[in-house]
Amino acid sequence: MMGKPIVTVVGSLHMDFTVVTDRLPSPGETVIGKTFKMSPGGKGANQAVASSRLGAKVYMVGRVGRDYLGSLLVEALKKSGVETAFVIKDPSSYTGIALITVDPQGRNTIAVAPGADGALRKEDVERAMPIIAQSSALLLQLEVPIEVVTYAAEEARKRGIKVFLNPAPFKPLPEDLYRNIFALTPNEVEASALTGIEAKDEEKLGKMASKLLDLGTENVVITLGSKGAFLAHRKGSLLIPAYRVKPLDTTGAGDAFNAALAVAVAEGSSIEDAVRFANLVAACKVTKLGAQEGLPKRNEVEAFKGGLISP
Ligand code: ATP
Ligand code: RIB
Repeated sequence: MMGKPIVTVVGSLHMDFTVVTDRLPSPGETVIGKTFKMSPGGKGANQAVASSRLGAKVYMVGRVGRDYLGSLLVEALKKSGVETAFVIKDPSSYTGIALITVDPQGRNTIAVAPGADGALRKEDVERAMPIIAQSSALLLQLEVPIEVVTYAAEEARKRGIKVFLNPAPFKPLPEDLYRNIFALTPNEVEASALTGIEAKDEEKLGKMASKLLDLGTENVVITLGSKGAFLAHRKGSLLIPAYRVKPLDTTGAGDAFNAALAVAVAEGSSIEDAVRFANLVAACKVTKLGAQEGLPKRNEVEAFKGGLISP
């Protein structure tokens, strides 16, 4: 067995401000919350921490502001073993933040002010290219400029690196991005927005996936929350059920899922086994509060699995 796989993440870093409420506020409404927590987040940083806790050697590429929150975020990454030499402290912007509400079912609403995420440039990725070239996987999401995502995917693919793109939050994708993607991992809403097809049943999921495969992606994994994930590639498709748990906070479930998928593939698992592992890691995450703080270590995932009934 080889040593730790190297995983590089290009993406966002946020400080999350989370209020737990009895119900999510409607437009124009104020809801009095029960608890408040400030904790590290951002889809990119969450994927980096998740990958590191699952056993990969992880490099993060991104931007924070040259401010107090930025320093806290970089420290949080270091504490989880993530290499931060490619996280730039931008002097002309502020650290990105997310305002989150979580209800008793673990559902959330999120509003992001991207700040320094929006200043990430191709050159920042170019500087990390020697590391990306040695990586087994490159993880991308859509909280940084799309031209940076497109550039990173193209350059990684040229070097034979497997690219995992979580197209969240939704943005239309340039057509020539798809051919550089090893695994595209939208949730149901993002898959509908990308394809113009409504996700009503498994047949419709198949239609969505076919459309995305036709654009050139090697694998499509549509995540379905408590229902699990739908995997499709050129040889076929199947729905892989989620583990049954009582969710406390689903914030970061997608990030845990994507990191686990990439780490498992980097370790040599088939894409199907990697989706099973990703369902397990994400189920473990949703039982804990906090996007990044709730991400499980490998040994916690094993212990969690021992106490579960298989789906
Ligand atoms: P988020 O934006 O909240 O991080 P997402 O919308 O990107 O998540 P989901 O499809 O909601 O993604 O969840 C990702 C994965 O997390 C699912 O495919 C599943 O494996 C796991 N998951 C999410 N919610 C639950 C749940 N209630 N029970 C078990 N597993 C869950
Ligand atoms: O995926 C969860 C993340 O989305 C949160 O940590 C928040 O920062 C938003 O970016």
